[in-house]
This record gives sequence, C-alpha cells and structure tokens, in this order.
Amino acid sequence: MSANSFDLSIDVLRNRQNSKWQRYGADVLPAFVAEMDFAVARPIQRAMERLGADQDYGYPDRGGNHGDGTLVDAFGKRMKSRFDWEIDPALVLPVANLVQSTFSTILAFSQPGDGVVLQLPAYPPFHDAIHSTGRRMVVHRLNSGAEGWSHAPQSLDALIDDTTRIILLCNPQNPTGRVFTEEELREFGRVACERDLIILSDEIHCDLVYPGTKHIPIASLSPEIAARTITITSATKGFNIPGLRCGVMYFGSADLQKRFHAYLPARAVGGPGIHGVDATVAAWNHGQNWLDDVLAHLDRNRRHMMQFINRELPAIKLHMPEATYLNWLDCSALGLPGSAFDFFHDKAKIAFSGGEAFDPEGKNFVRFNFATSAAILDKILDRMAEAVRSNANRA
Ligand SMILES: Cc1ncc(COP(=O)(O)O)c(C=O)c1O
Repeated sequence: MSANSFDLSIDVLRNRQNSKWQRYGADVLPAFVAEMDFAVARPIQRAMERLGADQDYGYPDRGGNHGDGTLVDAFGKRMKSRFDWEIDPALVLPVANLVQSTFSTILAFSQPGDGVVLQLPAYPPFHDAIHSTGRRMVVHRLNSGAEGWSHAPQSLDALIDDTTRIILLCNPQNPTGRVFTEEELREFGRVACERDLIILSDEIHCDLVYPGTKHIPIASLSPEIAARTITITSATKGFNIPGLRCGVMYFGSADLQKRFHAYLPARAVGGPGIHGVDATVAAWNHGQNWLDDVLAHLDRNRRHMMQFINRELPAIKLHMPEATYLNWLDCSALGLPGSAFDFFHDKAKIAFSGGEAFDPEGKNFVRFNFATSAAILDKILDRMAEAVRSNANRA
C-alpha cells in the first residue's frame, strides 16, 4: 500500500458522501464514527470494479445454498488461519449487518424484562438493543486501573439472577480497545455454563489487534462454551467497508441455530448484497498485506496520540488501546462546564463521539477515532491542546 493511501486530503475526504465527513460543519474535524480515512485494499477495489464493469447485478450464484458460498468459505478459512478456530460451514448465517443481529439474538433468546449483561462503557446500539426491546441492562462495569480497563470477574456471578439470559460481550471492546484474555473469557464462559446463559459475542474489531495482544474467539475455547455462543463478525471495521453491509452470525451448535430460527426464519433475516459479499471475500482472502500496513500506521497514530496527550494534556486520563482505532478519554479533571463532547465541538471544532451514549455516567468522556492521516491527527491534537489551554486561562 502506498504511503499516500494513509494521507488522503481533507478535500478528498469531504467529497465522500459518508456520515463521518458530512454530519458536522465544514470547519469541524470528525473523529467519531468507526470508519478510517484511508483508501481501501486493492483487491476490494478490484472486486467492486469488476461488478460494475460486468454489470453483474443479478441474483448471485457464488456457490453454497444461498449463492453466497464464497463468503462462508472465506469466513471459515479466515477464522482458521487467524485464530486457529475450526468452524462448521453449516452453522454460518450471512447477514447484512451486525447491529440487526444483536437485536435479533436478544429477541430470540430472552423475553421482555429479562436481564442482558453488558460491560459499560459500551457501543451505543447495544444500549438500544437492550432498552428498546424492553430487556433489562445488567451493568458490568469496566474500571480504570494502573493496568488499563478491567473488570472484577468475580463480580459477574453476583450480578446474575434467575431472569438473566444473555451476556453481551464485545471483544475487542468498543470503546476502550480492551482485548479480553483467555482467563477472562474462560470466566465469562464458566458463568454462562453454570447459570445457563447465552453469550452473544460481537468480534467485529478482531482484525484490529496490535502486536503483543492476541484475539481469541470465545467460542473457540471449548465445545461447552461454543454450544451457547453466537459469534457475530465482519470485515467491515478491519477493512473499512461498513457501507457495503455484510457480516456473519455463527451459531456454536445446531441446537442454538434451530432455536434462533424458531424465532426468526432464515428468509426473514436480511442477507448481504453482492457488493458486500464480494468485498468481504476479497478482504478476507487477499487483504492481509493491506491490513498489516494499516495496523502499522494505526500503531504509530496510537502511540503518538498517547504521547501527545500525556505530555500536553495530562489532565485527560486514557489507556493505550490493545485493539481498534478508538480510545476512551476521561476528561473529568478538565472541570468542563458541560459535556466533553460539547466542549471539543464548540471550542476546538472537533467531533468526537459523546461519552453519554456509551455510559449514562459518561458526560465527561469522549471516544476518539484516530484512524486518519498523521497530518489530520496532528491538527486534531493541536486543536484539543489549544482549546484546553484557553479554557484553563479563562478559569
Ligand atoms: C462493536 C460494534 N458492533 C457492530 C458495529 C456495526 O456493525 P454493522 O455496521 O454491521 O451493523 C460496530 C460499528 O462501529 C461496532 O463497533
């Protein structure tokens, strides 16, 4: 991948009709929605160009029962090669998007009033999936400590009662960038087995793990854990193609799959379109060199961001993310009059993701998306420092 694939100008980026570059004013730098400001991998672009050139827009026949066999095959090969996880192709369900899968799994495996365990802070649609379906959020908090973001695994047992049905796990975790260790995952698995819970494991960020840390699909740990786990994942975050709408649900047993389809028959699940399928297959089968370059760039950005904030803005507390291009910034010590989101939007012209959407107690937090060029990242950091300095001088 050439160096300028990471160096797209603001003008080029603003021409994209995407929410990242369109939602806020032309003077605001976006660092919110989980998208990257990079050119996509060549194999993905070639696959998209081929569809257009051949006008290949009919009902697809790419093998398998539903014409999407190449996707199931690529998913299996990818899980084996990256995570040494052997999957059963019969238990894969291609879907258009993972948020819908979160909702449908919650609806299929619980009743209104039932408890769903969620670690806070958490990706906003998880809150919505629990609240708007009338389920009860069982809060399992991640705490900031010397070693980073962690939870007390023993506390999980105490949170669960007879109406708790699901542990909704996000691994790697959005927004903290934590990657759960084998020990932590085994503890989730133990609790789920002992208390007869379903695990819904969103592993969409599994491709974005930095050196020194390892992603482990929780369903790969044992047949007992797999039998109660639905894993959802896609290439859309790692390969930056979220608008192409394609992902997979993986049922850890045939019984789980049957129970899901008793609630939502396969034909009632929105499947992916051909662009999503072909782009995902290209990404998983031929995109690893691109991804290696992206991770090296993101790794530089993550270190630079940490060094800058620790040096210039020491009142902001943060931990080095182990995965993702997101970081969770605690701005409480800045003593801001309103929310941290409003402060940076109004005074620095930066749009982060506001912390309240991730945690009701998150008004002093923002989520920072640092997947951009070195030049734009520097602009964002400089604007942050300037706004914080002006605010301190005024106080
Ligand atoms: C943890 C997590 N799950 C799901 C999604 C969205 O997935 P989809 O676009 O397939 O609904 C995101 C997007 O940022 C995410 O961070």
